[in-house]
Amino acid sequence: MANNVFGIDLGTSNIKIYNRVDDSVMVEKNMIAIENKKTYFAYGDSAFDMYEKAPGNIVASYPVCNGVIADIKNMEVLLKYFINDLSGGNLKPADFYVAVPTDVTEVEKRAFYDLVKDANVKAKKIMVVEKAVADGLGMDIDVKNSQGVLIVNVGYDTTEVSILSLGGIVLSRLIKVGGLKFDEAIRNAVRKEFSLIIGGKTAEKIKMNLRELEKAGRPAVVYGRDIVTGLPVEREIPTDLVHQTLIENFHTIIDSVKVILERTPPELGADIYRHGIYLTGGAAQVSHLAALMQKGTGLKVNLAENPIESVARGLAKVIKDDNYKSVAYSIEGMGR
Ligand SMILES: Nc1ncnc2c1ncn2[C@@H]1O[C@H](COP(=O)(O)OP(=O)(O)OP(=O)(O)O)[C@@H](O)[C@H]1O
Ligand SMILES: [Mg+2]
Repeated sequence: MANNVFGIDLGTSNIKIYNRVDDSVMVEKNMIAIENKKTYFAYGDSAFDMYEKAPGNIVASYPVCNGVIADIKNMEVLLKYFINDLSGGNLKPADFYVAVPTDVTEVEKRAFYDLVKDANVKAKKIMVVEKAVADGLGMDIDVKNSQGVLIVNVGYDTTEVSILSLGGIVLSRLIKVGGLKFDEAIRNAVRKEFSLIIGGKTAEKIKMNLRELEKAGRPAVVYGRDIVTGLPVEREIPTDLVHQTLIENFHTIIDSVKVILERTPPELGADIYRHGIYLTGGAAQVSHLAALMQKGTGLKVNLAENPIESVARGLAKVIKDDNYKSVAYSIEGMGR
């Protein structure tokens, strides 16, 4: 009974759910596909497989936008599907620990609690944990005893820059730059330089393969539609063009890290200086970002080993280790 505990990191592109029963983290696309505006057709990774490929009567969408729940009804449906799957089709009463962003309104924060409460997943207890605190725990940082930890999570829609001290958040800022902006920059550059239209998934693949391609000294080979002839063609995209086009977004992220550093109380600076920046989130892995951040801030940059799962792994620690229970809190009844 006590084993029925889930930890949820509701990302814009990926939902991560920690399951206490087998100590595992499920990662699936946080996406739902609906047919003819009313029938649920697919969810998770299988909905994503259809994205940009499905006929017009099937619409796939992400219910979370910019880190907050935008489409409550579909998010409830999705969450129920996932929890039901993880429970082997037999939902049992369970406790839920949900990671929430810090730099959002109280109403947006409360929506994470309401989501679990209203999704019919037999929630007994619902606790929330600030995302950056979970992130820190997931990266094995002693967040409860450190005075000054700088965490940068580069996700799909957003980047969250936070300063932690003694288990709490001192400063946090959410900016609207992440992996999606990187993909869009690549699409725009390919269109401009090669008169070629490529899909979002192709752009994402170029971004994810960039490091390997650079190492091998090979260009990215892509298929797309030629703007002039309208015909499908194959083209070679030089990695240098991809790198150049991403730099502007990298600078936006690095600038927001600098702004946070400027506002950080000086007493916390020593630990930050000693340990450097903890960089995580799926899109943190993009080639050159960590190196440029190191150069731009003068601080060491520690890239997470498993950046997509760090928040969920941190929730796992809160769930399993009584020593960390105090970072979780209840918002039941608050704001109502
Ligand atoms: N190897 C890689 N290199 C570069 N980018 C990657 C890599 N693997 C995943 N990504 C990118 O990481 C992003 C997803 O990361 P993550 O799961 O942390 O985001 P999210 O939590 O869903 O989003 P958000 O935090 O904005 O709500 C996508 O944009 C994806 O393209
Ligand atoms: Mg995220």
